[in-house]
Amino acid sequence: HEEITKVKNVEVIEFGKFEVDTWYFSPYPEEFTKDTSKLYICEFCLKYMRKKKTMERHKLKCDMRHPPGDEIYRDDNISFFEVDGKKQKIYCQNLCLIAKLFLDHKTLYYDVEPFLFYILCVRDDFGCHMVGYFSKEKFSAEDYNLACILTLPPYQRKGYGKLLIAFSYELSKKEEKVGSPEKPLSDLGKLSYRSYWKYVLLDILRKHKGNLSIKDLSKLTSIKPEDIISTLNSLNLLKYWKGQHIISVTPKIIDDHVKKTSKQEMDIEPSKLHWTPFP
Ligand code: COA
Ligand code: NA
Repeated sequence: HEEITKVKNVEVIEFGKFEVDTWYFSPYPEEFTKDTSKLYICEFCLKYMRKKKTMERHKLKCDMRHPPGDEIYRDDNISFFEVDGKKQKIYCQNLCLIAKLFLDHKTLYYDVEPFLFYILCVRDDFGCHMVGYFSKEKFSAEDYNLACILTLPPYQRKGYGKLLIAFSYELSKKEEKVGSPEKPLSDLGKLSYRSYWKYVLLDILRKHKGNLSIKDLSKLTSIKPEDIISTLNSLNLLKYWKGQHIISVTPKIIDDHVKKTSKQEMDIEPSKLHWTPFP
């Protein structure tokens, strides 16, 4: 990968009320990053600018207050917007450029048309402020239900990553499909998925009376069977018996695991999702 060796070209971005230190190189046009270390990004339209003055002028005329798509979920002060890469090409390319600042492997930047983007926002009186997003292929031959995921650093480690993941599986449930994130995942991506899978599976096993197969769990959660198997294996809850995986649990074992697992602080309420799958 050529990008890995590229030197970081933006040190810090101004984004809404935040100043955010960046982590990695991102392919912004050179004329925007040359001889400067800071980039000003409009938190609503995602346009990037080199000068504070330009940003100040932009703020006076930019009338966007939420992402340019359909609000498909609203709960308390949280909203999800669906943005089509084909209809909002520049916005989605700008979003990918931001994401690359926090991802060390190569991601897409320009070929956004085959993707839908799900933007998580917190709402206040001024507008819908982006917290993070994930992208998803309109058609995936590999059952991927998520391509790229980002929580903006000021919002990280508050449970938004797991909320984004939960949302991606809620979409898969509506599609009546199983899904899995595109590989390779970053270390932080892996941590988040492992934590989400553990929580969801333990929660079902704890509440459910009677036997459940891997297939049953997959139907209930839209989590791909191989991800269920690796999660239960890591918890030591799987036995292999006569060529079959057997889930081997007692209430005591489940309770012990649940105590060690962090809670899902925020949840997706399925009845608040107003969405039909891409045609
Ligand atoms: N160090 C250690 N653990 C971390 C961590 C860190 N820097 N950041 C998150 N975690 C853990 C959390 O503790 C939590 O585990 P827990 O449930 O056992 O407590 C789990 O990861 C998820 O945390 P959460 O707050 O829901 O996630 P987040 O909002 O911080 O977002 C990412 C997670 C991956 C989206 C975010 O780190 C990110 O945007 N990273 C950069 C982009 C990236 O790598 N994306 C994935 C590959 S496409
Ligand atoms: Na620079």
